[in-house]
Amino acid sequence: MRTRLIAGNWKMNMDRHSGAVLLNELKGILTPDRIGQSVSVVVCPPFPLLGLAGDILGSTPLSIGAQNMHHEKGGAYTGEISADMLVSFGCRYVIVGHSERRRYFHETDEIVNRKALRALGSGLTPIICIGETLEEREAGSTMDIIERQVSGVLEGFDRAMLDRVILAYEPVWAIGTGKNATPAQAQEVHRFVRDLLDERYSPEAGEGVTILYGGSMKAENAYDLLSEPDIDGGLVGGASLDARQFTGIVDAACRAREHQG
Ligand code: PGA
Repeated sequence: MRTRLIAGNWKMNMDRHSGAVLLNELKGILTPDRIGQSVSVVVCPPFPLLGLAGDILGSTPLSIGAQNMHHEKGGAYTGEISADMLVSFGCRYVIVGHSERRRYFHETDEIVNRKALRALGSGLTPIICIGETLEEREAGSTMDIIERQVSGVLEGFDRAMLDRVILAYEPVWAIGTGKNATPAQAQEVHRFVRDLLDERYSPEAGEGVTILYGGSMKAENAYDLLSEPDIDGGLVGGASLDARQFTGIVDAACRAREHQG
């Protein structure tokens, strides 16, 4: 059975104080009894709060992820953060290729691919983001874009490596806009991605890959999205900054999993 996972991407929000408050709230609500074994929960705060997150969440079932990393191992890259540094701060996951990184920091599929490879090499699980813009969707080229991104970001990945990554489908037009993809729209793309992987690797390869949906996921719409057969979890931005919203999404993921058996 695929891993069901909810990841909160705090983006450039929270400071030392408000971050500690939110982390303690999450720790208090998302107890082992509440989330059980069925759903993995990951919190991705900004870099300066990773140490704090490690201290607060250390003995809980919640894992820590980073929002980005550099693709080189280390050295003269002023202002950058390496995968090994993240590991030393207790990170298990790292988001790579978020559309905001692509848009504002000019990250290409090639760079995202190098980051994902480096993450794996350091023992991190990359959460690799893909997704089309509104113009691309309206032009009817969603599946072409997705196909190009999937092959670009997974260049050089063999089957064993594929099993160690998480993909996140995030339609750019749904991110931070309050306008989520409908469950059917998201399901269609998730199925398409799985079929691509089946074709590219082996017939069942795509079936084992966890694929998250991201884009205006909230406690109110999470259950319907997560009940789709190929949507394994969520990458949550805005709603991850509110403990009740975020834990509501985790609860919805637990219910969806129970329902699917
Ligand atoms: P959103 O962001 O939930 O605020 O739409 C999702 C994301 O960017 O990962």
